[in-house]
Amino acid sequence: MEGERKFKRTLVTSALPYANGPVHIGHLAGVYVPADIYVRYLRLKGENVLFIGGSDEHGVPVTIRAKKEGCTPQDVVDRYHKLIKESFEGFGISFDVYSRTTSPTHHKLASDFFRKLYDDGKFVEMESEQFYDEEAHQFLTDRNIVGECPRCHSEGAYGDQCEKCGSTLSPEELINPRNALTGNPLVKRKTSHWYLPLDQYQPWLEKWILEEHKEWRPNVYGQCKSWLDGGLHPRAVTRDLDWGIPVPVEGAEGKVLYVWFDAPIGYISNTKELCDAHPELGSWETWWKDPETRLIHFIGKDNIVFHCIVFPSMLKAEGSYILPDNVPSNEFLNLEDDKISTSRNWAVWLNEYLVDFPGKQDVLRYVLTANAPETKDNNFTWKDFQARNNNELVAIYGNFVNRALVLTQKYFEGRVPVRGEWTDYDRQTVAEFVGVKAEVEKLLDGFKFREAQKEAMNLARIGNKYLADTEPWKLAKTDMARVGTILNLALQLAANLAIAFEPFLPFSSRKLRDMLGMESFRWDDLGSTALLPEGHQLGKAELLFEKIDDAAIEAQVQKLLDTKRANKEQTYRANPVKDTVSIDDFAKLDIRVGTVLACERVPKADKLLQFTIADGLDNRTILSGIAQYYKPEELVGKQVLFIANLAPRKIRGIESQGMLLSAVDVDGNLSLTTLEHELKPGSEVC
Ligand code: 2FM
Ligand code: ZN
Repeated sequence: MEGERKFKRTLVTSALPYANGPVHIGHLAGVYVPADIYVRYLRLKGENVLFIGGSDEHGVPVTIRAKKEGCTPQDVVDRYHKLIKESFEGFGISFDVYSRTTSPTHHKLASDFFRKLYDDGKFVEMESEQFYDEEAHQFLTDRNIVGECPRCHSEGAYGDQCEKCGSTLSPEELINPRNALTGNPLVKRKTSHWYLPLDQYQPWLEKWILEEHKEWRPNVYGQCKSWLDGGLHPRAVTRDLDWGIPVPVEGAEGKVLYVWFDAPIGYISNTKELCDAHPELGSWETWWKDPETRLIHFIGKDNIVFHCIVFPSMLKAEGSYILPDNVPSNEFLNLEDDKISTSRNWAVWLNEYLVDFPGKQDVLRYVLTANAPETKDNNFTWKDFQARNNNELVAIYGNFVNRALVLTQKYFEGRVPVRGEWTDYDRQTVAEFVGVKAEVEKLLDGFKFREAQKEAMNLARIGNKYLADTEPWKLAKTDMARVGTILNLALQLAANLAIAFEPFLPFSSRKLRDMLGMESFRWDDLGSTALLPEGHQLGKAELLFEKIDDAAIEAQVQKLLDTKRANKEQTYRANPVKDTVSIDDFAKLDIRVGTVLACERVPKADKLLQFTIADGLDNRTILSGIAQYYKPEELVGKQVLFIANLAPRKIRGIESQGMLLSAVDVDGNLSLTTLEHELKPGSEVC
C-alpha cells in the first residue's frame, strides 16, 4: 500500500443537512457518524485531514416552513442551524468547520462559480412553460404546487410527488393544480432558465465512474450506472424563487440558483472560511485544486446523483477543481420497522436524545454503527439499543476495563505492576490482539465501519477472556508476581482499547485515557504491549458504561406509540367523496371476477406487473402498476376484480385489456381487491 500512496491530504465532506428541521438518528447513522469515524481515524494516524460540515439553508421547504409559521426564511434557518450545530457537537461530530450556505462567503463563491460557467458558455439557456400564480406574481416550484393525484386521485399531491401513493409526478400531471400555500389557481407562463447540459458530460462520466471507479460501493456504482444507462438530460440550475442566491446575470431578477447547485459549493465555501481564518492550514485552493488532495464525500443514498453526477460535472465544467475520490453512501435506517419521517414525527431526534440520555452519546454512536445501513436499509429498535448497551458495551468492554483497573487498585495501589516472564498463553493472547490493528485498518480504509467496530470489540472480548481464563484474583494468595504480569498485560490491552475505540466512541476513549493516564495516543501505538510503563500511577477507576434499565426503554417506546396514535387521530381523514353518479352511469362499468393464471414483472419497468387473467371467455392481459406492493408469484391463483370494458391501452408496447381494482389508504398502503370465496371467472359484479 505504502508505495501506492499519492495523496498529501484528505478533505472529507459530509452532506449539508437542510436547516428546516432538527436532525435525527437517520442522519447520524447514514452520514455523520461514519464520516466522523473516518476523520478521527485519519487524525489519529497523523494524516493531514479536514472535515467540512455546514447547513444547507436554501430551497423551497425553508420558504414553506417560514410561510406556515409566519416568520421569515432567515428566522427558520437561524433557528435550525443553531439546533443542528449543537446536536452534532453533542455527539462529538468533530467538524473542523460547521458553517452555513447563507454566509456571505458562500453567497459570493457560489455566485462567482455560476458566473464563471456562464461566462465560459457552459450553460444552455432554455425557455419553458411553468405554473404561475397571477395573484402572487410568482412562478411556483414543483413543491409549491398541489392538486389531485392523477394516479390515486387523492387531494394534496405535490408537483413532484404524491405522498399518498408514492408516485413520482410532474406538475403538469396534477388535476386542478393550485398554489400549495394560498390555494390560488395557476396558469402556464413562459420563463427561461439556465441548464447544465449533463448529456454533454455523459461520455466523460461513463469513463470516470464506470471504468475508473469500480471500487465505489456497489449501491453507489449501481445507482450511477442506472442513471447513465437511462441517458442524462440537461438540468436546470436556476429557479424562479425569492429565497436563495440571486442569479448573477443581468435581466435575471427574481431568479436564484437552484439549491442543489449552490449546496455542494457550500463544501468549498466552508473550507475557504476555515482556511482564511487559519492560515496554518494552507490555502483553501490547495484543498480543492491540488491533485494531491483526496476528496471524500459522505452522503445518504438520496444524494448519490448530485454528488456523483451533477456536482462532478459542475467541477469539471469549471475546470480547476479536483473530483471526489470516493463517495461512501449509506442506505436508509428505519425506526422500529417504519420509515423515519420528519412530517410524521417518526424519528429519534438528536436534541431530545441528548436530554433523555445525558452522557450516553457513545451508546447511540455504537448502536448506529453496529447497525449501520452500509449495504442495505437497516432497522433501529429501542430493544436492540438496550441489548447492545447492556450485553456488549457494559458486559464486554466496560467490564474488562473495570476489572483490570479495580484489580490493579486492589493489589498494586493503582500502579502498573512489573511485568514478569510471559507464558505461552500470554503470548498467544498478545498475538491475537496485535493482529486486530491491521484488520481494523483494512476495514476502515475500505469504509466498512460496521465490521471495523466489531473488530475493535473483539479486542475487548480477548481481554475479557484473558482475565476470565487467568483468574488473577485466585492467584493473589500464592503468586503476586504472576498477578502483576497478568494485570500488566490486561492494562496494556485496555490502553489499546482506548486507541482502537477512539474513532468510534470518542467520549469513552477520553474517559479511559484519563483513567489510565495515557500520554502517547497515536494509532501507530495500537498493538503495543508497552503503552503504560511499569510503576505508572493510574487514575481513579470509574464505570465506562452503565446498564440501561427497562423503564428508560419503555419511556422511549411509549413516546413512539404516542406519536403513532397522534398521527392516526390527527391526520387520518378519508378523501372527500367525488361527484354523484347515476345508477346508469355505474351500470356502464362492467366489473368482473378474474382468476390470475400468470403474473410477471415487466422488464425495465419498476412498477408494472403483467397479469394473464382467466375471464371465462378468451383470457386477457392486464398491466397493473403494483409491483412495489406484491411479488408476482404470490398473486397467481388469486381471484381479483377487474374492469372488463375499459378501452385497451398500450403500456411499454404491451396492450392492457382492462384494469385491476385495488385500494390505497392515506399512508400509501395498497391492497388488491380479492373475493371472499371463489366464483367462476367472468362473474359480474352487481
Ligand atoms: O439531502 C439533504 O439533506 C441535502 N441538504 C444535502 C445537501 S449535500 C450538499 F450538496 F450540500
Ligand atoms: Zn397518488
